[in-house]
Amino acid sequence: MKLLIDDADIQAIRRVYEYYPIDGVTTNPSILARVGLTRGKRNPYELLTEIREFVGEDAELHVQAVSQRAEDMVEEGIHIAEMLGKNTYIKIPAVKEGLKAIRILSAEGYRVTATAIYTPQQAFLAGKAGVDYAAPYVNRIDNMGLDGVAVTKRIHDLFQKNGLKTQVLAASFKNTRQLLELVEYGVGASTATETVISELCRNETVDRAVHAFLEDFESLCGEGHTMLNV
Ligand code: G3P
Repeated sequence: MKLLIDDADIQAIRRVYEYYPIDGVTTNPSILARVGLTRGKRNPYELLTEIREFVGEDAELHVQAVSQRAEDMVEEGIHIAEMLGKNTYIKIPAVKEGLKAIRILSAEGYRVTATAIYTPQQAFLAGKAGVDYAAPYVNRIDNMGLDGVAVTKRIHDLFQKNGLKTQVLAASFKNTRQLLELVEYGVGASTATETVISELCRNETVDRAVHAFLEDFESLCGEGHTMLNV
C-alpha cells in the first residue's frame, strides 16, 4: 500500500518525509486554505510548486479542481497538470458533472483521482469513468454512523471483481486502527495527516524497551558510549 501525506504545509511534509517512507502528497481546497491563510502564502500554486520541488517530479501530488461544470473542471484540471508536472493527479469530486469531467480527462491520458467518495456506488461510476484512484473518506463515513473501513473494503473489492484498473486512495483517517485495517486488506494507497502517520510508530512500551537497551549498554561501557567508540 502506498502511503501519502494529506497536507500542504511544507514544514509538516518535510518532517514526515525525513523519517517515514512516503510516496507523495495529497491536498484539497480546505487544506490549501488552512495552510495559505496561516502561513501567509495565499496563491495555492506557490504552496504546490514548493511541494513539487521538494518531493521531486516522480512523487505523486494530488490537487483538486474546484470548478462546478464538467467543461470547466477539465480546463482547470489540465491547467493544474501543466503547472505541477506529469505525476500530478487531478482530483475531481465523484458527482454528476465530475464523472463527465473524469471521463474526458482520463481518455486524454491525464492522471485523475475521484474524490469526496462516501459510497461504493459513487466509486463504481468513477472506476467505470476511468479514474486512477478513488478516494473514500473513511472517518467522515464513520461519522455518518456507518463503517468507513468496511465501505472502503467494499470499494476495493468491487474494483477487483469488475476488472477495473482503479485503486483505492483511502483518506480522512483519525486513527491508526482505521489505517492498519486497510494496510492488512491491501488497498492501493492511503493518505493521512502527520499526526496519524507519526502515531503508527509511537508506543511507550517500545520506547521503554529501547531505553533499557541503552541503560544496559552504558552500565557496561559507560555513559555516552556506543558500539562506535568502545
Ligand atoms: O481530501 C480528503 C481528506 O483530506 C478529508 O479529510 O480530515 O477533512 O475528513 P478530513
